[in-house]
Amino acid sequence: MPDNPNRAETREYVDPEERIRPMPILAAAIAVGMFIFGVIYILTVGPLTPSQYGDERTLADLQAKPAGAGSGGPVDGKAIFAANCVACHQATGTGVPGVFPPLAGSEWAQADGRVIANILLHGINGPLEVEGKTFNGQMPSFAHLSDAELAGVATYVRSSFGNQAPAVDAATVTEQRKASTSRTTPFNGTAGLKELEQQLGGQKS
Ligand code: HEC
Repeated sequence: MPDNPNRAETREYVDPEERIRPMPILAAAIAVGMFIFGVIYILTVGPLTPSQYGDERTLADLQAKPAGAGSGGPVDGKAIFAANCVACHQATGTGVPGVFPPLAGSEWAQADGRVIANILLHGINGPLEVEGKTFNGQMPSFAHLSDAELAGVATYVRSSFGNQAPAVDAATVTEQRKASTSRTTPFNGTAGLKELEQQLGGQKS
């Protein structure tokens, strides 16, 4: 028999009552998990290390490397080489047989640093003997690069591809640039470079 719809209990909702509603276990577990993760994370990144070493690089890593050290630093000889010389002398410094002379093992590249400075400042053309082979191409002038850049690339060439000649500093390039302002043409091959070496006093380094 159906309830009488007029009975008070049927018409009304149950009375509200106050109950204890604890945080759901899952939410609590996530919160605890995040807390533990945070503690472990802070401990593993080393809260006791001075903050300036926060990313664990050493002071030496952050200091600039000296110019011409091959990579990094204010002047990057390797990058200058890649941008200006690779097309002809190749990334390995071997050149192209019969066309572009090698820098690897080259007697000119490793002579007195003032020689390579002059080669870069003025270029070379005419028959040039390098490592017993004669080339007859045109090496353009790179006088538009700064003294520091020329020193950087010269130093890179002299210390790469198995070469072991001392660095060339920017002051040497500056000095050679000043001393040779009267030159308007490239050196004339082997003869031109020999003449240059004589002018420099034939000093080899
Ligand atoms: C357009 C091609 C070309 C570019 C670019 C070039 N060179 Fe040369 N380089 C030559 C040629 C060709 C000779 C030989 C010239 C000759 O036969 O008279 C030469 C000769 C040289 C020599 C003397 C000979 C030897 O092999 O050691 C040096 C050192 C040298 N280049 C260094 C450089 C450096 C450093 C750069 C970049 C800043 C550079 N060259 C960019 C073509 C180039």
